[in-house]
Amino acid sequence: MLTLRDLSVSLRGRPVLRNLSLDLAPGETLGLVGESGSGKSMTALALMGLLPPGFVASGSIRLDGTELLGLADADLCRLRGRAMAMIFQEPMTALNPVLPVGAQIAEGLVLHGLMQPRAAREEAVRLMARVGLPDPARRARSYPHELSGGQRQRAMIAMAIACRPSLLIADEPTSALDVSLQVEILALLREIREETGMAMIFISHDLSVISAMADRALVLYGGLAMETGPTRHVIGRPAHPYTQGLIAAIPRGTAHTERLRPIPGQVPDLVRLPPGCPFAGRCALGDAHCAEAPPPLRTGLTALRCHHAEPAPA
Ligand SMILES: Nc1ncnc2c1ncn2[C@@H]1O[C@H](COP(=O)(O)OP(=O)(O)O)[C@@H](O)[C@H]1O
Ligand SMILES: [Mg+2]
Repeated sequence: MLTLRDLSVSLRGRPVLRNLSLDLAPGETLGLVGESGSGKSMTALALMGLLPPGFVASGSIRLDGTELLGLADADLCRLRGRAMAMIFQEPMTALNPVLPVGAQIAEGLVLHGLMQPRAAREEAVRLMARVGLPDPARRARSYPHELSGGQRQRAMIAMAIACRPSLLIADEPTSALDVSLQVEILALLREIREETGMAMIFISHDLSVISAMADRALVLYGGLAMETGPTRHVIGRPAHPYTQGLIAAIPRGTAHTERLRPIPGQVPDLVRLPPGCPFAGRCALGDAHCAEAPPPLRTGLTALRCHHAEPAPA
């Protein structure tokens, strides 16, 4: 249902995202993982046609047979919220502060011509109940600032699923929540996915969240897909030094018994990437050639881009 071919994004001629290709089947979930600043949100915004000014996308994004790149704004608006919807990391930036949440959830249904305003308001209350908001009829009249962080996240999920999109992009939907709320919201998203059969792109910097949510995982770093494959192989048998570094940095057991090994060094600025492998400067296998030449794609049990590492044979 979603096919990316060599999706690249640049800012004033400088590459930010490079040659991202992937296929997503109906009902499938792809987990997009990588440290903060790796380009995960940029990828989501490129898919939604919401890149900040100055950023230019090239390549191909096909959703249900429609090429999205180069589509007129009006056509893109018809798809946004309807064929594809997005849950943002910080709900306060996505919710309108001066409109009651019920009205915001109903808005898309009316805008896309799916319901009359009155029916849409009733549907909004049903959706609010579905995402676990207590006393939804009353809460529909609340403004975003009157809800807790977890309730706002639920309201945004209701808004995103209102028009039954075939693709839902969830950008770190639980990263701002405490652990028990995070577990509840992830369970809710899994239930809704089963009910609707929608495909998901689930973004997180947290590999344990990705393994709980995603069929396939794509490890992004410096705007480049470093390693991708079935989640169990990417996490269970990672071959790319960056994926291995991410996994070594996961806290295990009780925090005091095993020391974390964070990857030394810093994520490169996406607008100042080296011409070769963005991980070269932090990688144990990195050499001068790595920083100069883009890493080749190697396929096996996973697919990875590295001058040195090979995936396990398929
Ligand atoms: N409006 C912008 N102008 C310039 N650079 C930007 C802008 N937005 C994002 N970036 C670049 O993108 C990087 C963050 O990418 P992002 O996709 O938000 O990462 P992630 O979601 O993986 O944490 C920043 O480090 C910065 O280099
Ligand atoms: Mg982000």
